[in-house]
Amino acid sequence: NETSTGVTNDLASISSVVKEAGKLLVVDAISSLGSIDLPVDKWHCDVTVTGSQKGWMVPPGLAMVSVSQEGWQANQKAKMPRFYWDFAKARSYLEKGQTPWTPVVSVFFALDVALDMMLKEGMANVFARHARMGKTAREGVKALGLSPFAEEGYASNTVTSVAGSDGLDTKKMLKILREEHDVVLAGGQQKLDGQIFRIGHLGWATEDDIKEVISAIKKVLPQAGFRSS
Ligand SMILES: Cc1ncc(COP(=O)(O)O)c(C=O)c1O
Repeated sequence: NETSTGVTNDLASISSVVKEAGKLLVVDAISSLGSIDLPVDKWHCDVTVTGSQKGWMVPPGLAMVSVSQEGWQANQKAKMPRFYWDFAKARSYLEKGQTPWTPVVSVFFALDVALDMMLKEGMANVFARHARMGKTAREGVKALGLSPFAEEGYASNTVTSVAGSDGLDTKKMLKILREEHDVVLAGGQQKLDGQIFRIGHLGWATEDDIKEVISAIKKVLPQAGFRSS
């Protein structure tokens, strides 16, 4: 999942190309795992990385990684010098229920609570809730006369990117939303700076939250120069 553009790539297809070429597949699942279904074994993901601060609903500080059998074989043969990021060392400590270095203990406690919440909701329901939030966000922005930036079919269910439009000063809009409506949205990055804005909807959020965001955007759009055609 690309947080910067609001795109969810077709990982199953990417995986079959990578595996046909006999290569290892490393997946940045920071803003997808736990929110969008990602069957790491079925899709032959060799290394999959996620971060506590996204769909896991807790503060930043903890990275979680899964490694396939092929990944472990590569790890055993790898000659690259390593120390802190030594997966083999992490695995040997895991057998003792420990980590090689002092971990971010407070986040572990928070994650324990968050995982209980997710298991209580049921993972299929968590994924379905994200799908509904994504749909609500995309339909909401379209109803305002704006266009989702990502192509239909690849639009992410954890972040909706919205294309800027003639006259709309996205930076001004984000400032008014933040200062006058307590709604914090993100802008674009690098060449998309000022070109798009992004609505995050992952983790502890519901369709009602998204509807509130859409109605705040509706109020602010005319103040930020938007003219619907
Ligand atoms: C898809 C993706 N990859 C990588 C990162 C970087 O994660 P971190 O800031 O934890 O290093 C982010 C953070 O927003 C992300 O969304």
